Amino acid sequence: MIRVCAPGRVNLIGEHTDYNQGFVLPVAIDLNLQLTLTREDQLRVKVIAENFKQEASFGPEDLIPPRENPCWLDYIKAVYWVLKEDGYPFIGSTIHIKSDIPLGAGLSSSAALEVAMTLALSTAGRFNHSLKEIALISHRAENDFVGVKCGIMDQFAVALAESNHALFIDCRNLDYRHVSFNLGDYKLVIVDSRVKRSLVTSAYNKRREECETAVKRIGELLNLEAESLRDISISDLKNVQVQLPPHLYKRSRYVIEENARVIESVNSLHEGNLDDFGYFMKRSHAGLRDLYDVSSPELDFLVDQASAVEGVIGARMTGAGFGGSIIVLARQDIINKLKHTVSESYEREFGLMPVFYGTRAAEGAVVY
Ligand code: GLA
Repeated sequence: MIRVCAPGRVNLIGEHTDYNQGFVLPVAIDLNLQLTLTREDQLRVKVIAENFKQEASFGPEDLIPPRENPCWLDYIKAVYWVLKEDGYPFIGSTIHIKSDIPLGAGLSSSAALEVAMTLALSTAGRFNHSLKEIALISHRAENDFVGVKCGIMDQFAVALAESNHALFIDCRNLDYRHVSFNLGDYKLVIVDSRVKRSLVTSAYNKRREECETAVKRIGELLNLEAESLRDISISDLKNVQVQLPPHLYKRSRYVIEENARVIESVNSLHEGNLDDFGYFMKRSHAGLRDLYDVSSPELDFLVDQASAVEGVIGARMTGAGFGGSIIVLARQDIINKLKHTVSESYEREFGLMPVFYGTRAAEGAVVY
């Protein structure tokens, strides 16, 4: 029997930059998905999802992409499908899944499932994939089978993160390195708004398209070969501002500035300057709210309330947005006060209790 554990993730900074060939800086978190896989002789897969108290099964003939509304089973089929495309044999098995990563909270429960599944199958079949290959297979599963055109950040973070480190990824060439994430007296706190992300797929795809259109327009206007917003500087952008539709200017400006913030954030972590790091988190949130338009009233409220608590040095939404979670960088001795103050005001305003998770930078997926 093979036992795999895969974490969720939060992104510290570098939001909506991965599909723009930019920089990201996620960490794996202390919430995990556990998967066990037992090989069987028949060419069938039986899956037991303990959280949903559901059971399902499929064979090689059932690897058909979902037309709409993918369900948990589709993520498993998706991994089988990619491995089949790559010429690997179908592995009959019984799979148990249990997870404490909340769904729809923007903490990458689906990337955890894909990575755990890929790692389990690759181990069972002795396919000898590196962790980077595991991440890439999982990413193809989500893009090409499940049909969500996400960037590579989530699968990379889940597969490759290291304990006490953030993962810096250059999404243009997929190089990555581990950046020491030492918080001293501070702690990273996740606050789940409990507003399930809605319309996230269509809004997400729309942002992707807007960025692609912006690159094309700016390239034409400046007569330069631009493959992505990574190739455009802020002064290039200013030069064409009046010729661009305002929303395309805003999207581009956010992405260009956010990439610069990721680099500056990595520098401040190297210098141990958490105040600066917190400042960049706040600027990032402001950009997501005012320029990229992917925040929500609930996320803005949580960020404002958390930021007003003494001892909090940074707060921002994390993940795709439109609901989900925020992250807060808070001094350890004020965390109870933070929970109390934020819960009370959030409940008063929205009638919902947020959920708090303190986390360290955890390790990526492992096989036991
Ligand atoms: C989702 C996607 C990621 C990334 C973020 C936004 O989590 O899966 O690839 O684009 O949104 O930064």
